[in-house]
Amino acid sequence: MCGIVAYVGHREAAPLVLKGLKRLEYRGYDSAGIALLNGNGLKVYKKKGKVTDLEGELAGKELHATIGMGHTRWATHGEPNDANAHPHYSFHRKLAIIHNGIIENYAAIKKSLLAKGREFRSETDTEVLIQFIEDIQENTGSSLEEAVRLALQEVVGAYAIVVISEDNPTQLVAARKGSPLVIGVGENEFFFASDASPIIEYTKDVVYLDDYEIAVVREGELKIVTLENAEKTPYVQKVELELEAIEKGGFDHFMLKEIFEQPRSIADSMRGRVNADEGTLQLGGLRDYMDKLAKSKRIVIVGCGTSWHAGLVAEYIFEELARIPVEVEYASEFRYRNPIIKEGDIVIAISQSGETADTLAAIELAKSKGATIFGVCNVVGSSIARATHAGAYTHAGPEIGVASTKAFTAQVTVLTLMALAAAQRKGTISDSLFRQLLAELESIPAKVERVLQAADKVKEIARIFTYARNFIYLGRGLNFPVALEGALKLKEISYIHAEGYPAAEMKHGPIALIDEDMPVVVNATQDSSYEKVVSNIQEVKARKGRVIAITTEGDTNLPGMVDFVIEIPKVHEILMPLVSVIPLQLLAYDIAVLRGRNVDQPRNLAKSVTVE
Ligand code: F6R
Repeated sequence: MCGIVAYVGHREAAPLVLKGLKRLEYRGYDSAGIALLNGNGLKVYKKKGKVTDLEGELAGKELHATIGMGHTRWATHGEPNDANAHPHYSFHRKLAIIHNGIIENYAAIKKSLLAKGREFRSETDTEVLIQFIEDIQENTGSSLEEAVRLALQEVVGAYAIVVISEDNPTQLVAARKGSPLVIGVGENEFFFASDASPIIEYTKDVVYLDDYEIAVVREGELKIVTLENAEKTPYVQKVELELEAIEKGGFDHFMLKEIFEQPRSIADSMRGRVNADEGTLQLGGLRDYMDKLAKSKRIVIVGCGTSWHAGLVAEYIFEELARIPVEVEYASEFRYRNPIIKEGDIVIAISQSGETADTLAAIELAKSKGATIFGVCNVVGSSIARATHAGAYTHAGPEIGVASTKAFTAQVTVLTLMALAAAQRKGTISDSLFRQLLAELESIPAKVERVLQAADKVKEIARIFTYARNFIYLGRGLNFPVALEGALKLKEISYIHAEGYPAAEMKHGPIALIDEDMPVVVNATQDSSYEKVVSNIQEVKARKGRVIAITTEGDTNLPGMVDFVIEIPKVHEILMPLVSVIPLQLLAYDIAVLRGRNVDQPRNLAKSVTVE
């Protein structure tokens, strides 16, 4: 949610910052801006729209500078327009700031600044912060570093900020609490960014700033201090991200690339963990906690959106295999009630980005009540990964398309491994079923590959339903969360209204919506609820609904009964979501492309939701 980039060194800052902003655009894309500092002073350019709109604005301008910073925004305070775009100047135009996060007590600070006669040019909380910093500097005569530190001591909320000052053209001051900030350390140059993607082509040496830390680069030196002014030694580590992982690699969209990456990302999430030949399963990050997991009386899973759907899949698998009761909660709801957490409860937080504010807050709440927290995150070193007691990373690689695809299947893979490991430890699974599931898991990447080979067939179906106004998705058992996920994918990128429902629940309401204009996507794979789902399909057909059925290979029953069939390979019922979700991802993608939508950056959304 909002992407920030800053640079100081010997290169031209403007092209570097603009390129970095494009890499971060998945985090927000309703306006963009850049600040440059050179012998002629501090210049800020900003524009409603995408980074390419900003580039248009910059055409023909003199942009030479070796220090600069930029921002791509997902609006929180104030509508997306030029004035509310970042960077924001201080009132006397000496300072500029970029900010990712929310200053919750901005109204009170603004009130006191207004009382002192300060005027504001935007409606943002961020402008309040930079005016506050300037006010402190002017009143106390303190350095920029000191003024930032004093201001942040008063701030309630979340932030990753970078501040520059016209008075010192070699200096960048940055700080973080709750929003990510990575510092790239090069040869006499430094990079700041919301993630490592704008940095890796220049250096692999990075420092992850921690909450309540301030980083100051001045005259080629990096210094880190806490909000209490205690100096800390920067911990430089190597980032593993490769450039190919953040490029489209010949695909039209990141989302399509990520859908097609799933055979690899599922395999990567099992690599070094599963050995089907030897019948072994290891989750290194949970090694010391396996007993606790196996003995737990209850598991509470928290997450948002697609990650919540992965949690629903995990509920079925944990209960079935490990016989541990599971509750799955929206993190945003969990955090605002007084949830009952008992001794022996385990909370599993699922998050691709590892930065989702609601999930992070749910973790803090559960921790304060004494729960043991496991994380299932994709981004290594992310805030959620660091806030948990233990966990298992998904190894999906960077997910850049805003609609989550490969992260979902990686989450389901890792959660399945956790359930299997707990079941084995508890003795609730037979050795033969354990080995069978490990072997089947190893076969999943090849089966997903086969589904992807049917992509053209899905595209044909997408053409027929491109202009449908509504969709219903149905599934039972493990295919119910898949139906929810299919509906979410469609609505977020095509803007078609779609609902996911348990197939049998349809007759308690949604069946009233069914007529000849209603496409109904049914996950009708051959599992224990197959016969029941077939009955539900007949109920839809009796009301002239148009059924697109996801069936398993060799099903001769459904083709004559439904309007369209997409066949997928047979897998054990427990593992079916990993395969049955693929055609739904493709269908949503194809319909969105046919409707001319911006698939990778759908309206109003952002990839990592760092506000509540
Ligand atoms: C849907 C989607 C969102 C995220 C949700 C949680 O395609 O991407 O619903 O799943 O915002 O994000 P993470 O997993 O990063 O916590």
